[in-house]
Amino acid sequence: MTLGTMYFGTTVPEPTAARMLDEAYDSGIRSWDTANNYAFWVPGGSGDESETVLGRWLRTHPGRRDSLDVATKVGARPRPGSRDLADALGLSPTAIRTQVHDSLRRLRTDHVDLLYAHIDDSSVPLADTIGAMQELRRDGLVRRIGASNLPAPRLREAIRSAGNGEGYSLLQQRFSYLRPDADANLAPQVLLDEAVADACGSAGIGMLGYSPLLSGAYTRGDRPLPDGYATAVTARALRILDEVAASAGLDAGQTVLAWMGQRRQRVQPVVGVSTPAQLRSAATAVRTSLGIDSLTALDAARMGR
Ligand SMILES: NC(=O)c1ccc[n+]([C@@H]2O[C@H](COP(=O)([O-])OP(=O)(O)OC[C@H]3O[C@@H](n4cnc5c(N)ncnc54)[C@H](OP(=O)(O)O)[C@@H]3O)[C@@H](O)[C@H]2O)c1
Repeated sequence: MTLGTMYFGTTVPEPTAARMLDEAYDSGIRSWDTANNYAFWVPGGSGDESETVLGRWLRTHPGRRDSLDVATKVGARPRPGSRDLADALGLSPTAIRTQVHDSLRRLRTDHVDLLYAHIDDSSVPLADTIGAMQELRRDGLVRRIGASNLPAPRLREAIRSAGNGEGYSLLQQRFSYLRPDADANLAPQVLLDEAVADACGSAGIGMLGYSPLLSGAYTRGDRPLPDGYATAVTARALRILDEVAASAGLDAGQTVLAWMGQRRQRVQPVVGVSTPAQLRSAATAVRTSLGIDSLTALDAARMGR
C-alpha cells in the first residue's frame, strides 16, 4: 500500500503524523504520498503542511531517506492569495520547475521518487508538461513521473506525447470497490474506470487508487456513501463484500484494500489514515490473502454481474 498523508499537519496533528510515519516505516510501508497543496482547503491550511511534516520527519531520521519512496504532486496548488483550484499554478514547464524546487525545500530532500502532474492543465500542451518532467528526471531531481486525474482520452494523448523519452509510468486516480453512477460529478477528481485501466494496461502504466475507503463509509455508520455511489448494484455488491470479509476475517474496508492489491488488474491503494489504529488496520488488510474465488466474486459483483 501507499500511505496517504493528505491531512498530516492540518487535521492530523504533527505528533500523531510523526508516530504514524515511524510505525509505517517500521512495518515496511515505505511508499508515501503527498502533494504541494495538502491541505490548503482545511481552515487555516496553506498547502505546505503535509510536505513540511514529511520533511521534518526526514530531517530527524537521517539514513532512512534512501529506503523510502516519496511521491509528491504539482499543478493543483492555488496561486498565492487564492484558495481556488480554478486559479492553480498549473503545469507549464516554468511552473513545474518552480513548484518542484519548493517541494524539495519543504521535504528537505534532493529528489522525489515520483512526481505527479496532479490535475489536468488543458492550457498547456501535454508534450510540454511531460517534456518538463522528463528534464527534471534527467537533472536527477525526480526519479519517475506520473499523472493523476486524467480522463482516458487525455491519458491516451499523454501516452502519445511522451515522444522518445520515457513517459508516465504511474497513474493515480479515484478508485474503490463501489463504482459511482456514470454521471456522478467528481470534479476535479477523475475515476479510474475501465477505459483508463485499459489504456494503462496497454501502455504498461502502473495504477494507484486514492480514496479507497470512501472516507470510512464501508464500515462506519457516521459516514454515508458519497453522492453518486448508491446505484442499482450497490446493495448486492455490499452483501458480497460482507461475505468475503467474514470469510477472510477482515472488515469490509480492509477487504476492499486487500482486493485492490490482489486482483488481476492490480490497483495499489493510497490509504488515508488519521490514527495509528487505522494504519495498523490497513497494514493487516494488505497482508491478508483473499484467494482467487473471493477476488473473482468481488470483481463480478462490483460490475453488477
Ligand atoms: N491524486 C489525488 O487527486 C488525490 C485525491 C484524494 C486523495 N489522494 C491521496 O489518497 C490518500 C487517501 O485519500 P482519502 O483520505 O480520500 O482516502 P479514503 O480511503 O477515502 O479515506 C480515508 C479516511 O477513512 C477513514 N478511515 C481510515 N481507516 C479506517 C478504518 N480502519 N476504519 C474506519 N475508517 C477509516 C479515516 O477517516 P477519519 O480521519 O475521519 O477517521 C481516513 O481519514 C490521501 O491521503 C492522498 O494521499 C489523492
